[in-house]
Amino acid sequence: STDRPAAGPLPKAELHLHIEGTLEPGLAFALARRNGVRLPYATEDELRRAYSFADLQSFLDLYYALMAVLRTEDDFADLAHAYLARAKEQGVRHAEIFFDPQAHTARGVAIGTVIDGLARALDAAEETYGISTRLIMCFLRDESAESALATFEAARPYLHRITAVGLDSAEVGHPPVKFREVFALAKEAGLKCVAHAGEEGPPAYVWEALDVLGVDRIDHGVRSMEDERLVARLVADQVPLTVCPLSNLRLRVVDDLADHPLPAMLDAGLLVTVNSDDPAYFGGYADDNFTAVRDALGLDGATLRRLARNSFRASFLDEPTRERYL
Ligand code: ADE
Ligand code: ZN
Repeated sequence: STDRPAAGPLPKAELHLHIEGTLEPGLAFALARRNGVRLPYATEDELRRAYSFADLQSFLDLYYALMAVLRTEDDFADLAHAYLARAKEQGVRHAEIFFDPQAHTARGVAIGTVIDGLARALDAAEETYGISTRLIMCFLRDESAESALATFEAARPYLHRITAVGLDSAEVGHPPVKFREVFALAKEAGLKCVAHAGEEGPPAYVWEALDVLGVDRIDHGVRSMEDERLVARLVADQVPLTVCPLSNLRLRVVDDLADHPLPAMLDAGLLVTVNSDDPAYFGGYADDNFTAVRDALGLDGATLRRLARNSFRASFLDEPTRERYL
């Protein structure tokens, strides 16, 4: 049988990972000390106790507040290095990593500081851990379209380091159409496009991400299941959906992991992948998410291997490299 347990975690690609969401309490306190930043928590345990979220916004409030400790190029390099060491243990062979430049430039950190620091760690990871990487620059959808455009212009000198643009932060009330212009510019510059849609927002936002922004992947997309025509479209075009089970649980998109739509999504023929979103906050890295859905949903070995294959199929790796993993 091919169903025997593999030695170690399945090789996989991580396609939905916010680097700022990998900031563990230990590193947050170390960077706070290094930079003389005061955190509103006395201890790591006290901070950890704040990781109880009612919805996406309550998480985002803490996520943005903790970023105050990230100030220098070394801070961003250390953050990415720590993530890549964890990713290696979790069977991650390739990681497509989001970052939120506006969350840093708004605090007076230059975009070049962010990108150069991350890029330094990513280049080293290829050597040290054999993990290939890509960077995806996200626009904050609760900021203005003008701010996204200014961010894209500020990033122009660094576009050779960036594979795609994305769209994240508070979804409801901020439909994809608001960012039509900056996504068109990104496409003209030869970048791929992705967008968070259908996490807390309605299926209409997934339609817009596809038809107005022309995205190559949908991040989350779990609420697509409420619209049969949308599911048919996503299946027909094999649009990848980067699903994040532990995130959905911790942000109360689902009440119980046993009720997660992942099995129904697979049955519908969607190109679904499993990812970790903000692992420091949601209690699990890439393979922890695989294990959690295996245990809660009773997924068998063949299904887990299908999810791992999907992660490479859905990646922005070039075709020959992708083929080597399939
Ligand atoms: N930023 C970081 N994690 C996010 C998520 N799950 N949804 C939207 N924006 C985010
Ligand atoms: Zn996300």
